[in-house]
Amino acid sequence: MGENYRREPVEYISESGAASRGKPIDTVGVCGLGYIGLPLVAALAKVGFKVIGCDTDGKKVKTLSSTYRADDMYEPGLNEALSVYRDSIAFTSDYSHMMQRSQAIVVCVGTPVHGNAPILDQIDSCLGSIAGTLKKGQLVVLRSTVPPGFTLNHARPLLEKKSGKKIGKDFFLAYCPERTIEGVSLHELLELPKIVAGVDERSYELASEVFGRLGRVVKTPSVTVAELCKIADNTYRTLNIAFANEFASLCEALGVDSYDVVYSVNTAYERTKIFRPGLGAAGPCLPKDSKIAAYLSRENHLDVFSSLLNSCEMSNDRVDRQLKEITKEFMTKNSLRTPKVGILGVAFKGWPETDDVRGSEGVELLEYIEKNYPKARIQIFDPYVKQVKGKKVFRSVRTTVEGANLILMMTDHPSIMNIDIKELVKSAGSPVLVVDCWHNLSRPGLPNRDDVQVYSVGKGWSN
Ligand SMILES: NC(=O)c1ccc[n+]([C@@H]2O[C@H](COP(=O)([O-])OP(=O)(O)OC[C@H]3O[C@@H](n4cnc5c(N)ncnc54)[C@H](O)[C@@H]3O)[C@@H](O)[C@H]2O)c1
Repeated sequence: MGENYRREPVEYISESGAASRGKPIDTVGVCGLGYIGLPLVAALAKVGFKVIGCDTDGKKVKTLSSTYRADDMYEPGLNEALSVYRDSIAFTSDYSHMMQRSQAIVVCVGTPVHGNAPILDQIDSCLGSIAGTLKKGQLVVLRSTVPPGFTLNHARPLLEKKSGKKIGKDFFLAYCPERTIEGVSLHELLELPKIVAGVDERSYELASEVFGRLGRVVKTPSVTVAELCKIADNTYRTLNIAFANEFASLCEALGVDSYDVVYSVNTAYERTKIFRPGLGAAGPCLPKDSKIAAYLSRENHLDVFSSLLNSCEMSNDRVDRQLKEITKEFMTKNSLRTPKVGILGVAFKGWPETDDVRGSEGVELLEYIEKNYPKARIQIFDPYVKQVKGKKVFRSVRTTVEGANLILMMTDHPSIMNIDIKELVKSAGSPVLVVDCWHNLSRPGLPNRDDVQVYSVGKGWSN
């Protein structure tokens, strides 16, 4: 291979961002104040921008404007940052207010997936509102997850048509995907490299003027490449999760604890980094990208990639199905008509910590039990979730598992890791099945009781 083999497709620029031609950007509007938009508001204020956060949820805007706190969302450091930089931050539901004052607008509204396609009504409505009041020279940056081609073939014509303005002459457009994860997003916003692409060079320069202030920018050749980068990031992780879980079931079949394999392989060996087996890809974002990739591979007749991604989805479903089957078998075998169930961890993940229950495996199992065992008494523990499906959430593991016949350890939150099984089942009911989804239990050491059964994902039955 010649020197050309090492083509560098990207260009890094300094933290100060691209050299500004014309008046530097000093005010940035952020549309959509959810788990992604609100931390971005705080981070942009921290690096010196004035920021106007805009959301159609009037109640949210009212609370934020009066308290500078996001009490309906747990994100470490967010409330502190909103409070420290409050003089640089304003909130509104009024697009014209934001558009009047901002030189750049970043779109962070939701794009939930239905089936395999993202629902684009929030982003369409947001772009429509932006187009209605677009001013000369403004930059629009899309940050929400979108299907590849959206910025160029959908957002661009929509903005041009509704505003009557021309891209590259009257206004500018870029795509800069969100790569942070909930629970550490404020930290990651300043640490992770930012993929930035513009529909033209000036759009890129302006977008990197904003995002370069937050740290290193990766100049990406086109907005479609940048959109695909988002899909690639999460699809890659989803494949790795499926690999970890399926490899774990092989270990289970061979009577080996898969964690022993994972830890031994990963230790001091950078070349292989196997994920820990657990419950599969969960949450509001991770599974979305592989669904979009699966849809696109089907549309483009890429049978192998399509079946690879389908297998991933099957792997995800398999783990869920297996837990439901284990639950059903246990209930039937023990004729439990009014079982008591303790669910430990109901956010979509335990670490980094979050209160987000969207796409949570714990919620899915809760719904399954409610539907199939209407007389079951279900208690839930989670450190940050306030309530789920109208149910109170306890902050004490001990209270949650008191009298329980079924204890489901659904996340890897530190407060439910390294738990001694003997302690856990001390006040539980009889019989009791403990389902350990993330290697939560400290080992070794099972209680010397015939009425206790333990199933661990990636290890199998312990007795
Ligand atoms: N949450 C994650 O972990 C994560 C990670 C990477 C990327 N993303 C992507 O970021 C985007 C936002 O995700 P999120 O989790 O913050 O969503 P979210 O549901 O928490 O927040 C969306 C916000 O947008 C507001 N909104 C809806 N329509 C609006 C409009 N027309 N104008 C202004 N505000 C509007 C909603 O009221 C809500 O506050 C999605 O596309 C998602 O795929 C999310």
